[in-house]
Amino acid sequence: MIQATWPRLPLLRALAAQMATGAVVFGSAFGLAAGVELRPPLMALLALQGIGAAVLGARFGLAQWWIPIQLVLPSALAVAWLWQVPEWIFLVLFMILVLVFWNSARGGVPLYLSNPQTRAALAALLPQEAGSGETATESKNKNKPGVRFADLGSGLGGPVLDLARRHPDGHFTGIESAPLPFALAWLRLRFAGLANVKLLFGDYRSHGLGEYDVVYAFLSPVPMPDLFDKAKHEMKSGSLLISNTFDVPGHPADETVDVADRRQTRLYLWRM
Ligand SMILES: C[S@@+](CC[C@H](N)C(=O)[O-])C[C@H]1O[C@@H](n2cnc3c(N)ncnc32)[C@H](O)[C@@H]1O
Repeated sequence: MIQATWPRLPLLRALAAQMATGAVVFGSAFGLAAGVELRPPLMALLALQGIGAAVLGARFGLAQWWIPIQLVLPSALAVAWLWQVPEWIFLVLFMILVLVFWNSARGGVPLYLSNPQTRAALAALLPQEAGSGETATESKNKNKPGVRFADLGSGLGGPVLDLARRHPDGHFTGIESAPLPFALAWLRLRFAGLANVKLLFGDYRSHGLGEYDVVYAFLSPVPMPDLFDKAKHEMKSGSLLISNTFDVPGHPADETVDVADRRQTRLYLWRM
C-alpha cells in the first residue's frame, strides 16, 4: 500500500513524484541524445515531467487539486529561471498558497467547493423550522421560521450564502480558519447583504455545536472520526450531521443522498 507507507506530508510526496519522473524523462532524453543524437526540446521534456508527476502523484495518494500544480511546476520553474523572475514573486505566490491552503498540510483538509447541485440537495434536506426533523422534501409546510445551520470549514462561503438566500427565515453560520478564503467569504457576504448569515474566523473544533439543527462538513477523511465524536457529544437530539463525500469508519450513516452531479457526490446523514 503506497499510501500507508509514504510520508503523510503531501509536499514530500509531490516532490518525490517530480524527482522520480524528472529522473526518468531527463535520463531517457540524455540516452536519446547520446544514442541517436536526437534532442527533444527542453519545454517538451518539462511538460512530460509535469504529466508524469501528476499521474505518479495521484498514485502516491495526492488529492486531485495537486494535479494542476504538478502539471505546471517544472515548466513554471524553468520559465522563471530563464526569464529571471524576481524572487519576491515566489514569496508572494507562496504566501497566497499558504493563506488559502492553511489547513491542508496540518489537518489534511484542502479547499474545494460544494457545487450548485450539492447546495440544492442541501437546501432540500434542511428542516423547515428549528428542532423539526422534517425536511423540505418531506414537508409542505414552507413558512415556519428558524432552522439553524453551520458549515464547518465554510471556505468561500458558497453553501451558507446560497442556503441563506433560499431560506430567508433560517440562520446560517460559516466557520473557517484559512485567512484568505475567510476574507473572500466575508467580502461576498458584504456584497450579498444577507442579514441571516454569520461568518466566524477560527477553528470549528473549538466551536460548540449545540445550537444547530443541521451541521454540514465537506472536509476530508482525516478529521471525520473526531468530528463525529464531537457531534455525538454536542449536537442536540434530532439534529442532523451531514458530511459531503466522507463517511465515518465504524459509524454507518443513517441515510445517504446521491447528488446528480458529474463528480457523483454522496452526502452522508446522521440523525443525532
Ligand atoms: C473542502 S473545503 C469546503 C468549503 C465549503 N464548506 C464548501 O463546501 O464549499 C474545506 C474547508 O474547511 C476549512 N477547514 C479545514 N479545517 C478547518 C478547521 N479545523 N476549522 C475551520 N476551517 C477548517 C479549509 O480551510 C477549507 O476552506
